[in-house]
Amino acid sequence: MVEAVFISRNEEETRRLACQLARLLPDPAVVALVGTLGAGKTRFVQGLAEGCGCDPSGVTSPTFVLIQEYVGSRPLYHFDAYRLKHVMEFIDLGAEEYFTRPGICAIEWADRVHEYLPDARVDVAIELMSADRRTIRIVARHPRFVECVESLHAL
Ligand SMILES: Nc1ncnc2c1ncn2[C@@H]1O[C@H](COP(=O)(O)OP(=O)(O)OP(=O)(O)O)[C@@H](O)[C@H]1O
Ligand SMILES: [Mg+2]
Repeated sequence: MVEAVFISRNEEETRRLACQLARLLPDPAVVALVGTLGAGKTRFVQGLAEGCGCDPSGVTSPTFVLIQEYVGSRPLYHFDAYRLKHVMEFIDLGAEEYFTRPGICAIEWADRVHEYLPDARVDVAIELMSADRRTIRIVARHPRFVECVESLHAL
């Protein structure tokens, strides 16, 4: 297990870090995001979208849909477990089937569905230190992702 820790001072830094991660991640990749309301999980996914060649402005917290698919040079699947009424909905959606597809799966509120996530994944924990200061901890949970996390450079 390898981890890299960054301090983000604004949303642009969060996006840039995520963009960098998306470009380094092997295919397929699952990115599990945790952090309180407004921590910056969706901003991070916008950066992943940019790194996948998808339009980042289309990335929002989906209010009604639990999974959003973005088309780019590499597909990005965006899950938001916050709105799940029951964790089984995640399985009923066929979420597990997405994890092996080429591209990146990003899951907001991953702690709510952690028992259904693959062991081979990258964990991203965003912690609010102050209004404009976040700690972003990126952990390679599997040897496949070690090189990628080690290659991330400072903001
Ligand atoms: N360093 C930072 N990184 C990311 N967002 C930041 C940062 N500093 C301030 N912000 C602000 O914090 C907010 C983060 O919102 P975002 O929707 O990404 O959070 P979230 O974790 O997805 O919330 P939710 O749990 O509601 O889905 C934005 O308004 C953004 O402008
Ligand atoms: Mg969000």
